[in-house]
Amino acid sequence: MKMSSSCLMFLVSNSIFLLSLFSFKIHAHRCTEDFLSEAHSRNLTLCKRYKHSNGVEFAWNFKNTTQMLQVMVGARLESETGWLAWGLNFGPEPSMVGTQALIGIKQTNGSFLGDTYNVTQYIKIGCNLLPSPIDLNIRNLTFTALGYPHYYIIEATIHLPQSVNGSRINHVWEVGKVAMGMEPKIHDKNLQSYDGTEIIDLQTGIATSIRAARRHQARIAHGILNIIGWGVILPIGVIIARYFKKGPIHWNEHEQWKNAHATCQTCGYIIGATGWALGIWLGTRSKYYSFPQHGAFGISIFTFATLQYMQTLALRLKPRTNDELNTYWSIYHLSLGYALLTVICVNIFKGIRIMPEEEKWRPAYIAVIASFAFIFLVFEIINWLKFKIDELAKKKDSTST
Ligand SMILES: *[C@@H]1O[C@H](CO)[C@@H](O)[C@H](O)[C@H]1NC(C)=O
Ligand SMILES: *[C@@H]1O[C@H](CO)[C@@H](O)[C@H](O)[C@H]1NC(C)=O
Ligand SMILES: *[C@@H]1O[C@H](CO)[C@@H](O)[C@H](O)[C@H]1NC(C)=O
Ligand SMILES: *[C@@H]1O[C@H](CO)[C@@H](O)[C@H](O)[C@H]1NC(C)=O
Ligand SMILES: *[C@@H]1O[C@H](CO)[C@@H](O)[C@H](O)[C@H]1NC(C)=O
Ligand SMILES: *[C@@H]1O[C@H](CO)[C@@H](O)[C@H](O)[C@H]1NC(C)=O
Repeated sequence: MKMSSSCLMFLVSNSIFLLSLFSFKIHAHRCTEDFLSEAHSRNLTLCKRYKHSNGVEFAWNFKNTTQMLQVMVGARLESETGWLAWGLNFGPEPSMVGTQALIGIKQTNGSFLGDTYNVTQYIKIGCNLLPSPIDLNIRNLTFTALGYPHYYIIEATIHLPQSVNGSRINHVWEVGKVAMGMEPKIHDKNLQSYDGTEIIDLQTGIATSIRAARRHQARIAHGILNIIGWGVILPIGVIIARYFKKGPIHWNEHEQWKNAHATCQTCGYIIGATGWALGIWLGTRSKYYSFPQHGAFGISIFTFATLQYMQTLALRLKPRTNDELNTYWSIYHLSLGYALLTVICVNIFKGIRIMPEEEKWRPAYIAVIASFAFIFLVFEIINWLKFKIDELAKKKDSTST
């Protein structure tokens, strides 16, 4: 069938595009010049910047013979109060709970004060995080604001226990915007904040957690598939149904518009459903956090899109002849379609807000919406003008006869 072959071609070109994205390796970025020069002045040889995780920078030096770890962690804290946390988790996973943390807090008067915090499971259920002794042998712990504005650093020398293997250590970092005295308040609930963990080899700086990399790729694929499937192809199908049937473009001689509409919605549905399945997989994988609203919207989009699709399919196989019923069906099909497009748009923005690359995705998607709005507007104006011209012509006809 023609429909399935064009859909197949679309899927293939789409997968090539996705694969080219996958081949980009995701790794930490180079440290900023200023931070790097500070690190070098302290004889810290290794440095990493986590650009997509609040831009935290981490410089360190590790001697595996003595188990001495010297660290410097820095971040910009733009808000009036704010905090920067860094710590080690000797548990099995690099998660927040169980982290032996050093937290520096920017006070309202601008000074940067810090302490040690034992992050227990009670923090997750809403208990206040207050300074407490931790299980790390720390010396020379300092919290300072660097010369250039908004940059704050934590420095410490840590003597790791002999039992700890420096080639595979869980380190965790976080940045928050709000603090009360010495109590840091909860950080933003986006992936930037949840991604602040890594299993690192302190001797090379190489992250050993491939799982995180795979998850990141899956998120990008989920985003792209759903924006293309739900957010681009379905609206194109709607435009075809609306403007290719009665004009301004006429594809109704052999009901071509119907086939084109069906092809678009089939492709959009297949691509969107694939992206949705990836999203569901991602949701089950993130046991330390979740985005319930984004997930609920996603599930309802999938449910109603499936419903819409199945009903149309059933109708195509067994066409009704009753005109009145057909009118009701059209109204129902149209309103469900437009409602779906609205929810899709809202949920894509919700998804983009979670992403660390938010500032790149949002303008791209806004451009997509703007183009659709433009197309709708132009076609509506053309149709309206046509209607007016026809009306004038009719009037002329009636007056001349
Ligand atoms: C850095 O290393 C050099 C040479 O080993 C030494 O002279 C200097 O004192 C060290 N600086 C710091 C801050 O430890
Ligand atoms: C320490 O590091 C050196 C090279 O960097 C390596 O040859 C040695 O095996 C390491 N020692 C331990 C105890 O891991
Ligand atoms: C800022 O306030 C803290 C207490 O919240 C105080 O310890 C610190 O000295 C103050 N810093 C300045 C520069 O006034
Ligand atoms: C940190 O909290 C855990 C869990 O409550 C506790 O088992 C541990 O002893 C605490 N560590 C210190 C140094 O107090
Ligand atoms: C801590 O700082 C003091 C003075 O600033 C210095 O003499 C000492 O060597 C430092 N200790 C470590 C372990 O870096
Ligand atoms: C530390 O971990 C690395 C990698 O997991 C391993 O190759 C190495 O043998 C371990 N070293 C020790 C002393 O356990």
